[in-house]
Amino acid sequence: MEIDWEQLRVAAVEAMRNAYAPYSNYPVGVAGLVDDGRVVVGCNVENASYGVTLCAECGMVSSLHATGGGRLVAVSCVGGDGEPLMPCGRCRQLLFEHGGPECLVEAVPRPLRVDELLPYAFGPQDLVAAEASKGPKVPSRLLRWRGRGTVFVHPDLAAGQRVWTGYWDRSTGTDSKETGILEEAPSWGNVDDAIAWGRVRTPRVVLIDEEGKMRWVGEGDPPANGE
Ligand code: THU
Repeated sequence: MEIDWEQLRVAAVEAMRNAYAPYSNYPVGVAGLVDDGRVVVGCNVENASYGVTLCAECGMVSSLHATGGGRLVAVSCVGGDGEPLMPCGRCRQLLFEHGGPECLVEAVPRPLRVDELLPYAFGPQDLVAAEASKGPKVPSRLLRWRGRGTVFVHPDLAAGQRVWTGYWDRSTGTDSKETGILEEAPSWGNVDDAIAWGRVRTPRVVLIDEEGKMRWVGEGDPPANGE
């Protein structure tokens, strides 16, 4: 996509002239080329409560979404002298989110990629990775036991609070062979999380409630005696 830096700079300067910067007297304007050819702009908007100040890039990103979304391809950010200005750290994070690592930012002597301005960035990909690693998983050393044994879920106390935990026992309860704990569960505030931990390991999950009564919470109907 062809980037007209001159046109972007002119749009940024025009936006800068509308800045509301009575406290710093440091007007900033920014213009961004969107991947569909649109140009979105923003200016800084300060506040008597200084920390509430919105950088020009915040306004531009809001305008990006308010006018239909898309990805930023190139950005020109200027100060009161109309010369390129490097976006602040927080705004680099905004550009990373809405333009990505390849988005170009006007700079002297050459435009810089966002990943040059913000190397090793934290971004949406980190949340996806964390989400994928969430949820109960059977440790690889225990994978051969999957589907066997029984998980017993039971209440416990941690720092005076009711929590739910459990353990995975080799035993199926049908014979005296292969007893012994395979794995101890972590603790959860919610019993369903403890049951989910068990179900990933084996269809045989038994809940011991707060009165010490046992209840089948495994897959399907509880096994008949002796199964
Ligand atoms: N400012 C921006 O608008 N964007 C930046 O990337 C750097 C700083 C504004 C915030 C404040 O209104 C003024 O510049 C002085 O910090």
